[in-house]
Amino acid sequence: MNILAIETSCDETGIALVGATGGIRAPRFSITTNLVSSQIPIHRPFGGVVPNLAKREHLKNLPLLWRRIVTQNPDSKGKKISDPETAFMKKIDLIAVTVGPGLEPALWTGIEFAKKLAADYRKPLIGANHLEGHIYSFLLPPSTRGSAGRTTGPKIIFPAVALIVSGGHTVLLNMRSFSAWRRLGETRDDAAGEAFDKVARLLDLPYPGGPEIEKLAHSGNAAAIPFPRPMLREKNYDFSFSGLKTAVLYHLRNSPPATERDKADVAASFEQATVDVLVAKTLRAAETHGAASVILCGGVAANHHLRKDLARGAKRQGLSFLAPRTAYNFDNAAMIGAAGYLAYLRKKKYRLAADGTLEI
Ligand code: KG4
Ligand code: ZN
Repeated sequence: MNILAIETSCDETGIALVGATGGIRAPRFSITTNLVSSQIPIHRPFGGVVPNLAKREHLKNLPLLWRRIVTQNPDSKGKKISDPETAFMKKIDLIAVTVGPGLEPALWTGIEFAKKLAADYRKPLIGANHLEGHIYSFLLPPSTRGSAGRTTGPKIIFPAVALIVSGGHTVLLNMRSFSAWRRLGETRDDAAGEAFDKVARLLDLPYPGGPEIEKLAHSGNAAAIPFPRPMLREKNYDFSFSGLKTAVLYHLRNSPPATERDKADVAASFEQATVDVLVAKTLRAAETHGAASVILCGGVAANHHLRKDLARGAKRQGLSFLAPRTAYNFDNAAMIGAAGYLAYLRKKKYRLAADGTLEI
């Protein structure tokens, strides 16, 4: 099945061409094209994503990416086709679009764009859950840039515990299969990525803060400041990061960093506290629920410290560690192609309307 996937839930505009085969137990994917247009420079001066600016940018970027994906396709090259769009769409079996969660004005731009394509070319259209996209992103192979796609098979052994850590979410799931899961816990206030972004702002680092904190933390001492590990010892799988952010704020007020090294110590100590809580609770959930593997995904999964500690802990407990390739940690349409395919196999029909708080 060839899937055209569209993602506009936040500040990345994404369009991808995804090949999908296999059943619900062993779905396989190939990525012919995965185009992402980032709006980071647009939102940076505001220190975060501005929903209406995001909408405006998606409206501008969608037709540009659409033109690019059509013209880059081998079917459009060297052939005398009067209408490359039609030739491109001929091969598409399904259109998948993110319906939530995310910023509703942003989501609507993708949904309307997808609806129009589906109507113009009479293609089936399916709604995809952005968080499911993050979960399935570890299944995605590298992009093949137009040649026949290499597929990848899942190594996962269920049950699995999955940690989604992004700018908007921190959720821990117990998965029995690709289609059955239960939420074990989530954040009670800020998402992990949000905490990185807010602490970065306190340290005068640009948005998005996660990569900036990580970079700065390299030259710092992670044991320099004993920041709290919120909810670490509580017998549940919920998280809370706003208190940790406040602890950083008070520390900066009481002992303002005098040197770049002091700042790096704050970044490293904050990163360590966050990673400690995420890793400990995920591994405890895996042990309690007899998991065979641990899945890590979402933008914060790009953090090398988190990846390394969770991978090491999983290995110690005899579990497989599954995380997406670097490019698929962040919002992209390829993962929406995967989520659309799985929703299609599961016969899950999300309403084709923006749902900012859609749950997983
Ligand atoms: O999944 P994502 O691209 O978008 C959402 O769905 O939210 O995640 C973005 C979040 C941002 O908060 C960003 O600061 C964080 O992921 N992030 C990181 C790193 N790279 C991105 N956090 C920690 N370390 C990183 N290296
Ligand atoms: Zn995301």
